[in-house]
Amino acid sequence: MNTKPKGTYDVLPGESERWINLESAIRKVCRLYNFKEIRTPIFESYNVFHRSQDDSSDMVNKETYDFEDRSERKMTLRPEGTAGVIRAYVENKIYANEPLSKLYYVGPMFRYERPQKGRNRQFSQFGVELLGSDSPLVDVEVISLGVTLIKAIGLKDVKVKINSLGDSISRMNYKNVLVKHFSNHLDELCEDCKERLQKNPLRLLDCKVCKDKEFFINAPKINDYLNLESKKRFETVLQSLDSLGIEYEVSPNLVRGLDYYSHTVFELEVNIPEFGAQNVIGAGGRYDNLVKELGGPDITGVGMAFGLERLLMASEFGGKSLKSKDFVHVYFITLGEKAKAEGLKQIALLRNLGLVCDMDYVGTSLKAQFKHADNANAMFTCILGDNELENGVVNIKDNLTDEQETIKLNEIFEYVMNKIKPENPCAGCNGRK
Ligand code: HAM
Repeated sequence: MNTKPKGTYDVLPGESERWINLESAIRKVCRLYNFKEIRTPIFESYNVFHRSQDDSSDMVNKETYDFEDRSERKMTLRPEGTAGVIRAYVENKIYANEPLSKLYYVGPMFRYERPQKGRNRQFSQFGVELLGSDSPLVDVEVISLGVTLIKAIGLKDVKVKINSLGDSISRMNYKNVLVKHFSNHLDELCEDCKERLQKNPLRLLDCKVCKDKEFFINAPKINDYLNLESKKRFETVLQSLDSLGIEYEVSPNLVRGLDYYSHTVFELEVNIPEFGAQNVIGAGGRYDNLVKELGGPDITGVGMAFGLERLLMASEFGGKSLKSKDFVHVYFITLGEKAKAEGLKQIALLRNLGLVCDMDYVGTSLKAQFKHADNANAMFTCILGDNELENGVVNIKDNLTDEQETIKLNEIFEYVMNKIKPENPCAGCNGRK
């Protein structure tokens, strides 16, 4: 038997409804904020993600699925959405049509990480990218969208952690100070931190191994090294969050694992014990050079991405369950071959009129067929045998009240519509299920 690759999972019927409900909540929130969906390929040219020799992020250096296609072109399965979206933004010159682009995407990403709860090798992200403005207010627009989504799926106890990495000059100054500070403690650094000190000293700050050491706690804080402009920008972000009533916590050590960020960075963290270490459900920040790096004009952006698996887990433990059982309006139970053929015809007619219908193709006994109708969450069950067929009638059972009536075969639609919400039979079941 073949089994699924390590770090992947199957979404089975019963579970898939939760995904659909989450995705529909996502789309509703994006509509509220006037973001438009963009769909980009699942694989991109290797260079879209491997842009620079100096990139220090684990994601780019250790976790991408890289391969050569049959024509020996180097390709990479997308480990995140941002770079591909920016590639599409540049290639399609989206910026030429509108000064501000508000884009969102939902889909699978791939990272060769050590699988654990909430961390998979194939996982799904919902992300947004807002391009074309360097106003601090658009950073807030993105964070606000994230918070609205969290509320929409009923999550409580979500913390917005935020920091500013400043502009490139502030960061350069701060990096120099950090290198000086940590170089005095070289022997006490873990191996990863020694490497980070060379490649990207900011990344030392979120080292899980060293973070509790005293010289880490006392390390210089970036806020003290932001130049006036960067400081003012960050203050405007925080004031705007205040004005929207969005609670946050400034986290001076928050630097994020990807190299493209400048100014605002943030993470949304849930406080759910079952989550363990993977308690960040969404994260993002501003990037000022990515569009240029990918061959476009000098346009800045800000974005954020959520892990769908983590959102679903969080909703299970601390929000709306997002579970909803699908229903069918009419389920046909038939006895005999002629009745089965008529049943097939009847459900085709009813489907044409907009009712969700199904019939039993496998059950032989009445008892088994009733059980299948129940499993299908049927609002009405039609029972059709040879006798009924001869008289042009059908027995219809209202599964809410258990009442059963005999009606004419051509009256099913009318009968059902009289009992459920008339305007839109597919959208509502009038509180019956
Ligand atoms: P990221 O922090 O790498 O950022 O990922 C965002 C979210 O994706 C994480 O907070 C987490 O919920 C989820 N995630 C990441 N890796 C995994 C995994 N292996 N298994 C399950 N979930 C995972 C980005 O990807 C940036 N592109 C976000 C962004 C958009 N920044 C600007 N624009």
